[in-house]
Amino acid sequence: MADIASEGLKHALEAERRIEPGGNLRAAWEKLLKDARKCTRCELYKFGTQTVFGEGPLDAAIMFVGEQPGDQEDIAGRPFVGPAGAVFDEALEKAGIHRSSVYVTNAVKHFKFVAKGKRRIHNKPDAGEISACRWWIEHERELIRPPVTVALGATAARSLIGKTVTIGKVRGEPLALEDGSECWVTVHPSALLRMPDPEARREGRALFVRDLKLIRARAAKLAR
Ligand code: URA
Repeated sequence: MADIASEGLKHALEAERRIEPGGNLRAAWEKLLKDARKCTRCELYKFGTQTVFGEGPLDAAIMFVGEQPGDQEDIAGRPFVGPAGAVFDEALEKAGIHRSSVYVTNAVKHFKFVAKGKRRIHNKPDAGEISACRWWIEHERELIRPPVTVALGATAARSLIGKTVTIGKVRGEPLALEDGSECWVTVHPSALLRMPDPEARREGRALFVRDLKLIRARAAKLAR
């Protein structure tokens, strides 16, 4: 009996997940957003301006996951709208990906910083904060079910895969996520901003665009 009941529940959940964007899916995402805005799962909510949740179409074939909102994102309440966002947007455009067609979010939804006078300097989230915030990303992925999720940098990779990876070793090839979908790991746009050598920066940006082109082709194939 228990097996039949759990099978039934499984099928009901599957059916619910297949509901068109604009119907129950949107309502479920909006509920998630509303809950995320009140998040107290770690201490970071005490310091930032607001939760910066993901945005984009709920039927996106690609979900990009960054690290955490920066200073400008914290104020705007939207992911990747500051300097790293400009690098990201430029690379997306070069790779032929419309930002409006992808879902963009972060592994950690609050800005973590150290105040230096009037400036707020980015401070890397720790393992506990990444783990506490994984709850949101898992629910975003469960609703959107993207065939391809892209980790932008090591923090996102850790959140999605659950362990530390070396980007140079895993980029360019998909990793399997628990739900059978693919995770692609590439650099974080901020890492490209920080490269002091102009030649290395040019090469870094070109490799980022190369990764995005591969990701675009793979997502198109899987979404068919
Ligand atoms: N860096 C991130 O990882 N995410 C943002 O939204 C902005 C900068």
